[in-house]
Amino acid sequence: MFTQQQLKEHVAQAAVEHILPLLAADSVLGVGTGSTVDLFIDALAPHRERFRAACSSSERSTQRLQQHGFQVLDLNTVETMPVYVDGADEIDGRLNMLKGGGGALTREKIVASVAERFVCIADESKLVDVLGKFPLPVEVIPMAAASVSRRLAALGGKPARREGFVTDNGGWILDVSGLAITAPAELESTINDIPGVVTCGLFALSGADAALLSTQQGIRTLARQA
Ligand code: 5RP
Repeated sequence: MFTQQQLKEHVAQAAVEHILPLLAADSVLGVGTGSTVDLFIDALAPHRERFRAACSSSERSTQRLQQHGFQVLDLNTVETMPVYVDGADEIDGRLNMLKGGGGALTREKIVASVAERFVCIADESKLVDVLGKFPLPVEVIPMAAASVSRRLAALGGKPARREGFVTDNGGWILDVSGLAITAPAELESTINDIPGVVTCGLFALSGADAALLSTQQGIRTLARQA
């Protein structure tokens, strides 16, 4: 029986094998954030000469990449990336994701938007039928925390500020519990339209293109259906 940590290590290694053929010598790789991505960065380190540089979605990943000797580029200098690799807090069979447990959702969405392909890496405990058991993170401009909270409550959620946490952008996170997210793309648009919201942790308007899920039996690959 593999532990959750071992399952994460397996999927990190599988992700390296999955993405290396997609990278050329001048490619920039998009890198997400979280404990699974930390292991992915570690597994990628021996291959850093195979591509040009990385573009990171957080200070945490930037530090780890730089410690391994990767060049990390400012997104403003990058036009495109063949692939972006990131974890998720929940993913459904249509490859809609709920993300932001690490609070990096906004930069993750931005970096992912510049990549041609999103590869989600996770252990199979993250695969769910309906998103929303994990509280939905919403990044807000601090002055709007109360007004956004009222709007989220009107949508049926229970928002709670992530105390003591400030994002890399200076924002606050509201973790919204109690939402059964049956229409993720619609809810993503609705929440993102609330004044004061920077973005919410739903990645459904643009979800993953593929998911590598670590199971006790090996890696299960899910691909987005047309
Ligand atoms: C960070 C994220 C992470 O991808 C998500 O929280 C999964 O993290 P982990 O790999 O540690 O389970 O969205 O903002």
